[in-house]
Amino acid sequence: MTNPDPDFRCALRGFATRAVHAGEQAPRPAFVPTATPIYATTSFLHEDMQVLDAVLGSETPGFAYSRYGNPTTHALEVAVAALEESEDALAFGSGMAALHAAILNEVKAGSRIVAATDLYGATAQLLTTVFSSLGVETTFVDLLDLDALRSTVENVKPRIVLCETISNPLLHVADLPVIVETAHAHRAVVVCDNTFASPALVNPARFGVDIIVHSTTKYLGGHGDVTGGVVVSTAERIFEMTELTKLVGGIPGPFESWLTLRGLKTLPLRVRQQSENAAEIVRFLCGHPKIEHVYWPGLQQGSASTIFTSNLRGGMVAFEIAGAGQTEVFRFLEALQVFLPGTTLGDVYSLALYPPISSHRGMDKDDREAAGINDGLVRLSVGIEDVGDLIADLDQALG
Ligand SMILES: Cc1ncc(COP(=O)(O)O)c(C=O)c1O
Repeated sequence: MTNPDPDFRCALRGFATRAVHAGEQAPRPAFVPTATPIYATTSFLHEDMQVLDAVLGSETPGFAYSRYGNPTTHALEVAVAALEESEDALAFGSGMAALHAAILNEVKAGSRIVAATDLYGATAQLLTTVFSSLGVETTFVDLLDLDALRSTVENVKPRIVLCETISNPLLHVADLPVIVETAHAHRAVVVCDNTFASPALVNPARFGVDIIVHSTTKYLGGHGDVTGGVVVSTAERIFEMTELTKLVGGIPGPFESWLTLRGLKTLPLRVRQQSENAAEIVRFLCGHPKIEHVYWPGLQQGSASTIFTSNLRGGMVAFEIAGAGQTEVFRFLEALQVFLPGTTLGDVYSLALYPPISSHRGMDKDDREAAGINDGLVRLSVGIEDVGDLIADLDQALG
């Protein structure tokens, strides 16, 4: 009787063959792992060549080669699509790779983009360098001025209107219902970077946003240990983008996908705690004599369609230290003992950042100040630590 165990067959082969193959095709497990494993494999084997042919031709769902799709990454994509109340998602190796693919899939030479003035610095640079060199020009508009948005979209007739749900670093909330209505009236699609809000606070798809992008490096991963990005949209658009990504290839590794999938299981718990901690920190900052302005989505009134802002809080806070310049802000940041001076956000750790030397380093001082990003501005990403320790830390550092 032949032994169906491939390892048995392997045992009859030479030493080098056994070194390469033994253990790899061990009997198919009769169990299903509770958590998605890390599929650290480049290619996937099928029952026969016809199945492989159909998978490679995208006629049958399945996996053939990891640049085309990987089960660990697929599990992450299914989870993010579910959290964003959308049909499908595609994961990338970074937030910038996700933004690049989301935009590239929509434009061709001669297309125009209308984008918010207060975008993450690298996103603005992506538009003014990479896409500009491809013949795709961008017009920037202040999204707090909805009349300016309407007239710009009417004049420019863009293919894309690009915004962030909560802007960086002044944390303005974009009026998604109005932005979507304006863009769709002129046949533009809306691309919304939902990184700062995360799906725990806002689902842009509910307001008709066509394409949602995340740097999963931030709230979705949540633990400061993985870089990634994701695009969320309709199944049709994600299929197109998957075909594009087969060529441009900015995929994540399976370990990164697994870490992100693991992180996002606690997203609602983390964001709830971060929002509660931030609310207390905002109260403390608003009553502190050395603090001039405090920015937090929970403080924004009016504009951004009330339904949308009413519950929007979150862990991102910014404030201005009265009369401070770079020297005083550096002294404050160096005095912090619990907040970490890391240039990221959305982690379980509390982080403090100085936008003029980090997220807005590329912007000249006059433009930066015109955008309200002054030399005394500090941005906090509030973590899940004990809020008493966080407030005591800010208090002692403010002196
Ligand atoms: C709002 C926003 N979008 C996109 C990115 C880019 O993400 P990544 O660093 O994962 O490429 C960042 C990075 O800070 C960000 O803050």
